Amino acid sequence: MTRVYLDHNATTPLDPAALEAMLPYLRESFGNPSSLHWFGQRARAAVEEARGQVAALLGAAPPEIVFTAGGSESDNMALRGALAKPSGARRKLVTTAIEHHAVLNTAKALRDEGHPVEIARVGEDGRLDLDELRSKVDDATLAVSVMLANNETGVLQPVAEVARLAHERGALVHCDAVQGGGKTTLDVRALDVDLLTLSAHKLYGPKGTGCLYVRRGTKMAPLVRGGAQERNRRAGTENVAGIVGFGVAASQAAKAMAADGPRIAALRDRLEDHLLEIPGVLRNGAGPRVANTANVSFEGIDSEALLIALDLEGVAASTGAACAAGGIEPSHVLKAMGFSPERVQSSLRLSLGRGTTEAEVDYAARVIASAVARQRK
Ligand SMILES: Cc1ncc(COP(=O)(O)O)c(C=O)c1O
Repeated sequence: MTRVYLDHNATTPLDPAALEAMLPYLRESFGNPSSLHWFGQRARAAVEEARGQVAALLGAAPPEIVFTAGGSESDNMALRGALAKPSGARRKLVTTAIEHHAVLNTAKALRDEGHPVEIARVGEDGRLDLDELRSKVDDATLAVSVMLANNETGVLQPVAEVARLAHERGALVHCDAVQGGGKTTLDVRALDVDLLTLSAHKLYGPKGTGCLYVRRGTKMAPLVRGGAQERNRRAGTENVAGIVGFGVAASQAAKAMAADGPRIAALRDRLEDHLLEIPGVLRNGAGPRVANTANVSFEGIDSEALLIALDLEGVAASTGAACAAGGIEPSHVLKAMGFSPERVQSSLRLSLGRGTTEAEVDYAARVIASAVARQRK
């Protein structure tokens, strides 16, 4: 059976070079990087090489990279770590309505714990309303958290502008760049952010590994306390194989991006063009976007049923809805863009990757068109 994977925003396959590099650290090179002996020092050297590779992808200095267990942990660490170090009267967190739940649910928990939290709106195009954000950032604001690329629509957010206005008011800036890693140039100095989250498994690295970039001099409390690993910023014996795989994946991404970007954008546009030929289709998200993501709604269609029909024909996609306790929760991102419940409930996200081909895109478009036609009957 033909299988077409169009869910790269959920996770990507492991880069073969990353897997090869990881294997020795799951076998003979099993040392603990904190040990002083030969075994330990081999592992230490590998972790530090990976730190350099990840730092290079971000334009950061290696000591500014803190390895974590993934994007969610890094987001938690950024918000909690920054807010645990209040500066004067500053206690407020400002974020946006379209952030990943790793940020939004942390913000909600912080609000329950007594921190003032404000959530900025986005426009119908899926892009943050900068004027609204500006009105919320004031002298009481400690941190502003805005994602780089949205995971559901791919819409790029004006992070450098956010950083400028937040810094003018003396606030710290965190950016969840999980969906930008390997898809768009990431330069922490050009973005001028203080904290930035990356996850390995979204850029062809292993799952359960990520990092938080912490600009030199930024005051942060650790989220995980214990030993002195990661310069006292994240305790726990390092996931050496995962970190090594992350490093190699980051290097590969930096090399592949220039060629991958335009090729994947052309395939995404081809897929969208096919889908827009189907009657009653609306594109969700506009303006600057990452190259790989398409999000569309099909009038009169229940996206969960559509997803199952596609899976039966080998096409793996995703809906704009997430499983939550007690059932399917409609996408908070599309809701925040002001769309009707019907439009949200009928949305489909297709995210392409490095291995996606023209034949796959054409196959997926055919399968989607016939499944939509069947369901509408
Ligand atoms: C924007 C964004 N932030 C954070 C995460 C969480 O990353 P992880 O799966 O590594 O915890 C994801 C994963 O879907 C994401 O898309």
